[in-house]
Amino acid sequence: MAAAGCTSTQTLQHPQNVVPVTDGWKFVRADVNGAEAVAFDDSKWSQVVLPHTWNDKDIIGGGNYYRGPGWYRIKLTIPEAAKGQRLFIHFEAASLVADVYFNGVRLGQHRGGFTAFCYELTPYIQRGGTNILAVRVDNSFFEDVPPLGGDFNIYGGIYRPVWLIVKNQVCVTPLDYASPGIYLKQTKVTKEEAIVDVLAKVSNGLDRPVSAHLLALYGDANGVFSERIRKRVNVVEIGAGKTVSLYDQIRIANPHLWNGRKDPYMYQVKVILFCDYNVVDEIGGTLGALGLRYFSVDANKGFFLNGESYPLHGVCRHQDRPGKGWAISYADQDEDANLILEMGANCVRLAHYPHANYFYSLCDKSGLVVWTEIPLVNQVYDTPAFAENAKQQLTELIRQKYNHPSIFVWGLYNELGNSGRCDDPRPLLNELQSLAKQEDSTRLTTAASNDPSNKWPGLRAIADLIAWNTYPGWYYGSPSQMNQLIDKYKRDANDKPVGISEYGAGASIKQHEQNIKKGPTPGGKWHPEEWQAIVHEENYAAVEARPYLWGSFAWVMFDFSSAWRTEGDTLGVNDKGLVTADRKTRKDAFYFYKAKWTTEPFVYITSRRHTERTDPNTTVKVYSNCDSVELKINGQTIGSQTEKNRVFKWFDIRLKPGLNTIEASATREGKTYTDKCEWQLSEAPKQGVESASEPDK
Ligand code: GCU
Repeated sequence: MAAAGCTSTQTLQHPQNVVPVTDGWKFVRADVNGAEAVAFDDSKWSQVVLPHTWNDKDIIGGGNYYRGPGWYRIKLTIPEAAKGQRLFIHFEAASLVADVYFNGVRLGQHRGGFTAFCYELTPYIQRGGTNILAVRVDNSFFEDVPPLGGDFNIYGGIYRPVWLIVKNQVCVTPLDYASPGIYLKQTKVTKEEAIVDVLAKVSNGLDRPVSAHLLALYGDANGVFSERIRKRVNVVEIGAGKTVSLYDQIRIANPHLWNGRKDPYMYQVKVILFCDYNVVDEIGGTLGALGLRYFSVDANKGFFLNGESYPLHGVCRHQDRPGKGWAISYADQDEDANLILEMGANCVRLAHYPHANYFYSLCDKSGLVVWTEIPLVNQVYDTPAFAENAKQQLTELIRQKYNHPSIFVWGLYNELGNSGRCDDPRPLLNELQSLAKQEDSTRLTTAASNDPSNKWPGLRAIADLIAWNTYPGWYYGSPSQMNQLIDKYKRDANDKPVGISEYGAGASIKQHEQNIKKGPTPGGKWHPEEWQAIVHEENYAAVEARPYLWGSFAWVMFDFSSAWRTEGDTLGVNDKGLVTADRKTRKDAFYFYKAKWTTEPFVYITSRRHTERTDPNTTVKVYSNCDSVELKINGQTIGSQTEKNRVFKWFDIRLKPGLNTIEASATREGKTYTDKCEWQLSEAPKQGVESASEPDK
């Protein structure tokens, strides 16, 4: 089917009976009385295409940005082909609160900026007439809608795709917290056998009872499906207008397991719904991807995937991009995932809110293990409305992402209790913990703490696992203090498994400091790239030396927009990224991890961007995953280093005045890998000046 205002220019991530509602939206960044009415004149509004945010331009310089209401309208033409069928409108997200109207009727309000929501249009459709969808979106601060804190911006708008879903009268409902309506529960997975309980929420839109049953089939990764003979079909009667749960089960002997980055194998599942023995719905494709795996965490031995030790090392990711905010494309997400994979991470913490469904699919396919979380950041208000909303967002997260094999842990909060007003979070956290278990007994929960004062005793014991956001070498102490800190976290955790949820330092690719000894002021303008690399080297050495950690997540993969920050080389940016916000430059620290975590040979000369120099005395540092690296300066061999730790250093190198060529090379299996850069030494060193490019520190 095709509807006016709908194109399928983007890759379809849904089954065929779903159409993206992308083009043809009208938009105004203001509140407007009566904009929900069908006859409202929106001709003066701008034309926009989804995904869209109204903050794409106004956060660039930092400081304030617009937080308030905006309106969207679109004319949907409902084609003849959809006659007699049910139509639903599914929003992947709108920030932060959305009121949805169809043909002037208010369908509902969704509070929460990161999870999907869905409404049925069927009763209000004007067959052959004009059908207007109008949405008021508001990204103001709402006391009952987490997040109440955090350094990331809250971009407003319909910033993820919207889909028109066409279904038969009896169907797997898209209305169960906007989930796909099917739940593939991995009840038992071992190397010998997998049992997957398949549950489908089925809705009967007819005005009479029907008999329905479910059939779940599985196919291999190539889509070759198994025959399945069932002796008995479990037929269920569904009353008029009712929604019920139907079940089936898949058993696979000697299953091919989803084994992280080594082998992210996925079966395909087709869930077929029969009504009076006729097929009326089928869920499959990307929604039927099934990665079978089992995992466990041992407080003294770390993370195990499919029975084998699988130390988790990775990064955190925010979803924004310069000039786009949260309104990012599939290609942007592909690029993010590819950079994370290139660096060799095997896990990712999707901070600090649910990310786009597409990103989880990329993690499923590539074998990245995922920590995903609700936006309970910094503050909790002790009100029934806040608790309700936090529970709603957790339920949505779990139901919407339930079938993604990459997810192994649900995150319940980030850094509660340290900033501004935070009422006692423990009662709510206890509720969230039980809710997570009730919604999903197959996964673990965790939380990111940063509260050494233990303001709320017992808080850290609530989730199954605990993790720490910790910044030795940046916000406090020296980089090597990570050792003592982790030891303390471990002691304090009793028997609970401990992980590191954040660590890192800011870095500008335009600021350099030769022979750096001391960390800069975090809130200052001087964030030399070299210091970030040192913090990661030393912090990570402490992590690596403690295999009991269940995982570690560097903060953060990409520089991200943080309106109120006035530090580093650009206003309004958190520059702790290992890659710049435009994804164009991998900072030195990126290559440190690449050397640690990948095997494809490479050599990388650090400080390569420090091209203009005044001090002839320097250390040359190279990251490489080869065992031995040779250095040449101006064509002269300086010598080879052998280093298991992947960090190769040559001290007391003396540059000549003028242009200097630095070359590093390594040989593996007869092939040579090289890197090269040029540094210009412009004048004799002045006393007391470390580097020409070091300004007002
Ligand atoms: C915190 C927080 C992050 C933040 C980071 C930082 O620990 O969880 O959201 O960006 O610190 O200060 O960079």
